[in-house]
Amino acid sequence: MSAERTLILVKPDGVARGLSGTILARVEAKGYKLVDMKYVHATREILKAHYAEHVGKPFYEPLVEFMLSGPVVAAVFEGERVIEGFRSLAGTTEPTTAAPGTIRGDYGRDWGLKVQQNLVHGSDSVESAEKEISIWFG
Ligand code: TYD
Ligand code: MG
Repeated sequence: MSAERTLILVKPDGVARGLSGTILARVEAKGYKLVDMKYVHATREILKAHYAEHVGKPFYEPLVEFMLSGPVVAAVFEGERVIEGFRSLAGTTEPTTAAPGTIRGDYGRDWGLKVQQNLVHGSDSVESAEKEISIWFG
């Protein structure tokens, strides 16, 4: 059985604030293995597939505009329970209240916009990870 993989994005706010290296370093320091990575501008098509579960929700359009506002770093990390492990490291969705010690809790806050600019994305299940890795890496 091959080790579990997850798709991580450093979102445009993380790249713009110069936190890509810090964020990737924290994932590596936890012990997960970086197996693929690229710097890329998302497209509406990619985002529609990536965020299919959220199409039609009130935050969907602001989310897409935010994700198109600048480049992202897409990365694949590998390791036992990496999906759960990265989501724990990332913290809860809202950065204002994400626990200190997490990526969102340490570096994020509410900027008064219609979307949570929360620095990172991490797949939430094995099925999502497989789908998202193929969306971003083909
Ligand atoms: P979701 O998958 O629920 O969160 P997570 O990234 O923690 O898995 O939502 C996807 C993104 O949509 C989330 O990272 C930020 C944005 N979002 C909002 O801006 N407002 C919201 O109320 C929710 C639920 C999400
Ligand atoms: Mg999610």
